[in-house]
Amino acid sequence: MDLEHVRSRFIKHFDGLTGSVYASPGRINLIGEHTDYNGGFVFPGAIDKGMIAELRPNGTDKVRAYSIDMKDYVEFGLNEEDAPRTSWARYIFGVCREMIKRGVDVKGFNTAFAGDVPLGAGMSSSAALESTYAYALNDLFGENKIDKFELAKVGQATEHNYCGVKCGIMDQFASVFGQEGSLIRLDCRSLEYQYFPFKPEGYRLVLLDSVVKHELASSAYNQRRQSCENVVAAIQKLHPEVEYLRDADMAMLNEVKETVSAEDYMRAEYVIGEVQRVLDVCDALERGDYETVGAKMYETHYGMSRLYEVSCEELDFLNNIARECGVTGSRVMGGGFGGCTINLVKDELYDAFIARAREAYREKYGKLPKVYDVVISDGSRKLC
Ligand code: GLA
Repeated sequence: MDLEHVRSRFIKHFDGLTGSVYASPGRINLIGEHTDYNGGFVFPGAIDKGMIAELRPNGTDKVRAYSIDMKDYVEFGLNEEDAPRTSWARYIFGVCREMIKRGVDVKGFNTAFAGDVPLGAGMSSSAALESTYAYALNDLFGENKIDKFELAKVGQATEHNYCGVKCGIMDQFASVFGQEGSLIRLDCRSLEYQYFPFKPEGYRLVLLDSVVKHELASSAYNQRRQSCENVVAAIQKLHPEVEYLRDADMAMLNEVKETVSAEDYMRAEYVIGEVQRVLDVCDALERGDYETVGAKMYETHYGMSRLYEVSCEELDFLNNIARECGVTGSRVMGGGFGGCTINLVKDELYDAFIARAREAYREKYGKLPKVYDVVISDGSRKLC
């Protein structure tokens, strides 16, 4: 992320004056996928890639926003009916609206932003953008009165209300709360969280980006969430105390097997297994048992591919290569439908694995996967 780059474009694009600069990262997730909106656990960390934005109040009631990467300019007002059509601008507009709903007196501002978190790769570029603006508007117009959890919820509500994705809280939480060198275990029901220093001796975390992006990812995502809610509604008839799938077990799921669709059953089976896997991984990490961590990652991949059906051919291919190379753990990361695998690799295997994955992927799909070494970094902050 390059502050000087953003600053020079901001000065050039607007009236030569500088503003305040804020940054927020994308995220990885070690394990706990599609568990957040089911009240379960997630295990994310912020990364060294994200978004940077410069903002300066402009004394009007208009936001003038410039996307440096897309070389695109959009201007919009701050009332509900002023929603811009351009998709990147809707994120900024949504954050403004959600901050206003929480009592922040947002006024017009000039802004330019850029990022180095790859779009559509499952590293939460949109959460990075939302968190950057939520943090900035809180500082510029809100006297920092909104707490960090609420800033994460501003980003989530932006997705729900202005971008059509009924996401959970993981991405925005990780972006706001990230801490260098630590993963964070979040209980998405109670919102209790704990930092876990993550420095696995002798292992590395690396992402392999399939460079595949599923067109209908947001509607498929919302359908998965709907399946989970359907199953909860069926279980609640017998067990009214079950609020989320996190509260259910396989015995409860089997009691309603005949009343839910086969598809909804498979989705719930995956989620119930995944909630438990996050807890198992935490125990294994405390023992320094990375073999178990890795084995759980492969189980997650299987569940996401066969039961939750959010993988794709290319990601399954990369997962298989990892297994063939003896990589400790590998799985599709994030919402799925394209994007990356996250791989836990022994130091001595790293070079051979990357070389083999690149070669095999190019041979099969005619393109190279992108490789990102994971550096676990800090969350939202003001740069200057
Ligand atoms: C996306 C969503 C998150 C989470 C993951 C899957 O990244 O934004 O809330 O549900 O998918 O774990």
